Amino acid sequence: MQGSKVDENIIIDIPKIIDPRGNLSVIENDTIPFSIKRIYYLYDVPSDSFRGGHAHKKLYQFLIAISGSFEVHLNDGANKKVITLNKPNKGLLLVPGTWREINNFSSGAVCLVVASETYNETDYIRDFNDFLVYKN
Ligand code: TYD
Repeated sequence: MQGSKVDENIIIDIPKIIDPRGNLSVIENDTIPFSIKRIYYLYDVPSDSFRGGHAHKKLYQFLIAISGSFEVHLNDGANKKVITLNKPNKGLLLVPGTWREINNFSSGAVCLVVASETYNETDYIRDFNDFLVYKN
């Protein structure tokens, strides 16, 4: 998605089953616009840590702050946007062709990532200048 725009990266509500014993949220294939092939998570993240710093060519991802909070800085090569994730029932859809950097992790923050593909290093663009060439 060379032509994708930063505003295509949207917050999606995750259904929440409220219960005095503790709330429950569920992500199924119809919660997000892709089929789930992989789940991974970032945890034990130092507060000064900086994650991301890359874009993907084909991969869709859905990021959720399962615990705590962090900021996701998005750039489509022309426009930027910063989104704070801090609720277990709100996720950020990341579309291919979006440069992302993640920082300002709170203590105990956990970032769950639901992904459309298995891990494939050739899908990454890890150099920002290469990303700008790819987008323009
Ligand atoms: P990376 O996607 O660059 O992490 P982040 O965007 O959170 O900073 O991945 C970090 C390292 O982990 C990199 O060496 C690749 C490896 N990795 C896997 O082996 N499998 C995976 O599914 C993922 C997401 C990463």
